[in-house]
Amino acid sequence: MIPLFDLNWDEDERRAVIEVLESGWVSMGPKTGEYERKLAEFYGVRYALATSSGTTALTLVYEALDLKGWDVILPSLTFVATANALLKVGANPVFADVHSPEIPLISAETVERVLTKKTKAVVFVNYAGHGDTLKDLKEFCDKRGLILIEDASHAHGAEYPGGMAGTFGVAGAFSTFANKNLSTGEGGYVITDDENLYKRMKLLRSHGMTSSSWERLKGREEFYDVVEVGFNFRISEIHAAIGLANLRKLKRENEKRRGIVRYYRGLLRETLPEVGIPFSENSPSSHYIFPVLLPEGVDRSAVRRRMYEMGVYTSIHYPPVHLFKIYAGRGARLPNTEEYARRTLTLPLWGNMGEEKVERVVEVLKRAL
Ligand SMILES: Cc1ncc(COP(=O)(O)O)c(C=O)c1O
Repeated sequence: MIPLFDLNWDEDERRAVIEVLESGWVSMGPKTGEYERKLAEFYGVRYALATSSGTTALTLVYEALDLKGWDVILPSLTFVATANALLKVGANPVFADVHSPEIPLISAETVERVLTKKTKAVVFVNYAGHGDTLKDLKEFCDKRGLILIEDASHAHGAEYPGGMAGTFGVAGAFSTFANKNLSTGEGGYVITDDENLYKRMKLLRSHGMTSSSWERLKGREEFYDVVEVGFNFRISEIHAAIGLANLRKLKRENEKRRGIVRYYRGLLRETLPEVGIPFSENSPSSHYIFPVLLPEGVDRSAVRRRMYEMGVYTSIHYPPVHLFKIYAGRGARLPNTEEYARRTLTLPLWGNMGEEKVERVVEVLKRAL
């Protein structure tokens, strides 16, 4: 079988885990501190905060920005956590359409269409790793006094004109779930330059407590106070150590993925010109996933089934959030999102995939079609 993705973990991650196990300190501590310093350095930002997941990273940002009671605009073409975390903090998710099926990202124009008097923030999702509309959206948000947040879970290390993914808004939240370009199995992080936001998120990450167990053990603090009702969104040292090891591979991983995607695009253009490929060839990306657009009228489920029978896994990114039961009553009208979601098919992609597997996937897709 050709899987949808494969981990790039090796001896580095194994050693990192064993080192933590042998150190005797496995909850949040020195490795987490080092991981956060390296993340901040990597993105060229002042602060990074590691969390237990991408969902908890988003929840920290939303909660620390006091979005409760406000409208927050986001795409429906995302993993449901981007929206669910808004509901959990008492904000009102408002879905914007994607620019087009070819550029499946929200944009200044699509956001403007759904603005209300109660809009406080916009969450941009760097779908598949791309950020084509992000710079314009940032200018739009700045002009309107709207807070821009990035859910950059797809875009670890992506470099766009104007900056790295996650650095355009007040904060960038990332998931390091198993299949992400930077993976810790479960985990996440937030990056920001905003000192007050960072301090608030740090408090909220661990019960609103003013010091951590590690700090008290090291004698830096004797007591703690509790100044907010916080969460336990901490990362473990084991996950932080894996993150440190995996972060060293991220640039190379993204380069390899770029090569695989270039090869895919060339082959598809040659052998299956009827299959659409979103984004332009030179749109900067971390290439987290490789979605294509099947021709109108094709039975996608049948194609997927046949591909599976021929040994190729595929996926759908994503069933649009506004069509899920809990969001259906909101009356969002998103024709581009619905067309994209109806036709899209995600093909296997990972850094060490190799050209032979790409050729096999394209051949299997052709036969299935
Ligand atoms: C865009 C997006 N947002 C949020 C999440 C949630 O992250 P996690 O699964 O780490 O909670 C994911 C992960 O799958 C994601 O792809």
